[in-house]
Amino acid sequence: MGNQRDILVPAEKLEEQRAYTEAVRDALQRPLGYHIVTLGCQMNVHDSETIAGMLDEMGMTPVDTREEADLILYNTCCVRENAENKALGNVIWLKELKALKPSLIIAVGGCMMQEEGMGEKVRKMYPFIDLAFGTHNMYRLPELLFRVICEKQRAIEILDEDGGICEGLPVRRRNGFSAYINIMYGCNNFCSYCIVPYVRGRERSRSQEVIIEEAKALADSGVQEIMLLGQNVNSYMGGGAHFAELLYQIDRIGVPRVRFMTSHPKDISDELIACFGELKHLCRQLHLPVQAGNNRILQVMNRRYTREKYIETIGSIRRTCPDIGLTTDLIVGFPGETLAEFEETVSLVDEIRYDAAYTFIYSPRPGTRAASMPDDTPIEEKSRRIQRLIEHQQAVTTDICQRQIGRIEDVLVEEVSARDTSCVAGKTERGHMVNFRGDASLIGRIVPVKITSAGKNTLRGTLIEQSLTR
Ligand code: SAH
Ligand code: SF4
Ligand code: F3S
Repeated sequence: MGNQRDILVPAEKLEEQRAYTEAVRDALQRPLGYHIVTLGCQMNVHDSETIAGMLDEMGMTPVDTREEADLILYNTCCVRENAENKALGNVIWLKELKALKPSLIIAVGGCMMQEEGMGEKVRKMYPFIDLAFGTHNMYRLPELLFRVICEKQRAIEILDEDGGICEGLPVRRRNGFSAYINIMYGCNNFCSYCIVPYVRGRERSRSQEVIIEEAKALADSGVQEIMLLGQNVNSYMGGGAHFAELLYQIDRIGVPRVRFMTSHPKDISDELIACFGELKHLCRQLHLPVQAGNNRILQVMNRRYTREKYIETIGSIRRTCPDIGLTTDLIVGFPGETLAEFEETVSLVDEIRYDAAYTFIYSPRPGTRAASMPDDTPIEEKSRRIQRLIEHQQAVTTDICQRQIGRIEDVLVEEVSARDTSCVAGKTERGHMVNFRGDASLIGRIVPVKITSAGKNTLRGTLIEQSLTR
């Protein structure tokens, strides 16, 4: 078990970084503006919140555009090739920006940097990148920036071994009402297509005490929603506590909404399912990636469950919580997937009736087992398959949205609608986005909304006014 060993980054190492933080702050003649671009999953979004926290402490301030920035930092993803191309394409564009503004500092971090040979590649092929770090040494950013700013050197540092767990880093959260809390890092599952275990390292869990402490502090600051994060939250093992036990503890704190992601279907325990019936604040919503509907493909993917077992798990979740909103991830065109095998994914989507599904065309990732499997399905055929799958899912999504009409749902208001500034948008407990008339003063509040109509993926409603006195 990953967390049996000593996984905490020692206090002295953090102390050292604090000294660099101060040295950078002292050296700056004016507050530098930083701009972070985040690609990838929630894990990366949360890492960027930590990076922002560290930069704040170094005397820098966030700016909205790349043009205004003195420091641009890309937090990259490599889960599929297009994520990687996006990062590289963007970074190359920065070269031009730097030609216009030679003092600009360009930094790249995140999962893509953790790929084999990346350090060398950056060193040789991207001379305009001043600073590069991986997921394992993010906490060393102050020292790396010290080298760039105070010593005028390039700082390219990527560690191969797991980074352990770093407690006590500062965090600048995206907003004051919905917060991410990491409960574990890394993944041990090695699904044959997936690069995450290679770039995020082995599973390691934070201790229950620090998680509870963080959640309590967030509750005190008025946070309305907590999202517990991990590549595989069901494997949480902080100081002997299982995930379901942790959920009970979090529920007791009283933050109105608790969610988590991601769960692996093979590890969903009866205790966890029971949580959906018993816990007051756990949202009726679960993201449970199935990836494929055919047993042979599931086996070659190394998912370690069958279609039948997955359906059984969903059945038992729905018996406990009939109104639960379910979402999933699906991969189309895994090496060797036949048309008949693909059709089993379509039939599973029809059978389960997910609220939404994230669909991806299989993308070979260097170093993974699937990357060396023969794949003779042309990309045109894969595109046809994903299109067909999307159409099936869309029909179900639209139907589920229609069925929400007439209900009164609590909505956590997140933002003023981009399309119509007289409206705000937020999510129901089940995870549906609702737009309704209202202003920015509602942001961060949970209010009852009557659902009046449904679009393809989103809902419209009207605010029930008496809520304002709540
Ligand atoms: N830890 C999570 C999510 C991992 S990445 C989990 O296990 O569910 C998010 C999604 O990206 C995966 O669920 C999978 O559907 C997709 N994905 C991962 N590797 C991929 C690849 N090589 N090609 C296409 N999709 C991939
Ligand atoms: Fe990747 Fe599988 Fe781990 Fe998810 S569980 S991160 S898909 S290896
Ligand atoms: Fe991407 Fe890394 Fe997340 S590879 S999906 S950002 S864990």
